[in-house]
Amino acid sequence: MKWDNNIIESLAWGKAITRKEEKEKVAARIASMVTDGDVLGVGSGSTAYTALLSIAARIKVEGLHIKAIPTSLEITMACARLGIPVANLDEYRPNWTFDGADEIDPELSLIKGRGGAMFREKLLINSSPKTYIVADSSKMVSRLGEKFPVPVEVFPQALTYVGEALRRLSPSDMNLRMAENKDGPVITENGNLILDVWFDSIPPDTEAAIKSITGVIESGLFIGYPVEIIVM
Ligand code: 5RP
Repeated sequence: MKWDNNIIESLAWGKAITRKEEKEKVAARIASMVTDGDVLGVGSGSTAYTALLSIAARIKVEGLHIKAIPTSLEITMACARLGIPVANLDEYRPNWTFDGADEIDPELSLIKGRGGAMFREKLLINSSPKTYIVADSSKMVSRLGEKFPVPVEVFPQALTYVGEALRRLSPSDMNLRMAENKDGPVITENGNLILDVWFDSIPPDTEAAIKSITGVIESGLFIGYPVEIIVM
């Protein structure tokens, strides 16, 4: 039985999608790589979402059977709207994953997590035999931290302790991420807070140094991961 008034069906991407043409080209490339029976890890952000729309179009025309393992609530809802069955990591290992990025440096290291989903994104990427990072050309930077802070997901009661420990890594600035349409801070899907940490330089051991702090759930640094980049 179907709902008469389905909120999910009227959902679209919240904001205008920037560089839409570039994202649609990357999306078409990702959709062309899907084969019948694939279990796909689906990252978050507008580029991953655009790729999901292209995949849904192929499913509709060709009747492909795929499953998605989403990394965020908005992608889970998009799957519901598009009729794409979702699965989880207890049931399946993804055949491959696609995801977006905020920054990509010349060594293909990444900053992710503008959307706040970096914990599940890293879990999916680490679980996948192959990951494609989909991006428009504005994401290419000469050094990580050029345009974006490193997001750090923090267990709420550890906020002050973690802030203190992060200060020892000499950030140039650090802010608690505040919500836009809610009072107070952003609360992640895991019930945690996000510290956005700006660095003038990010040595390769920064990811491990951040992760070693008690109370840090995950950071949006992805240094040296075996990803393939698809940029248009
Ligand atoms: C969300 C992410 C996104 O993949 C990243 O922010 C890129 O988003 P967009 O494709 O909208 O630029 O890491 O946590």
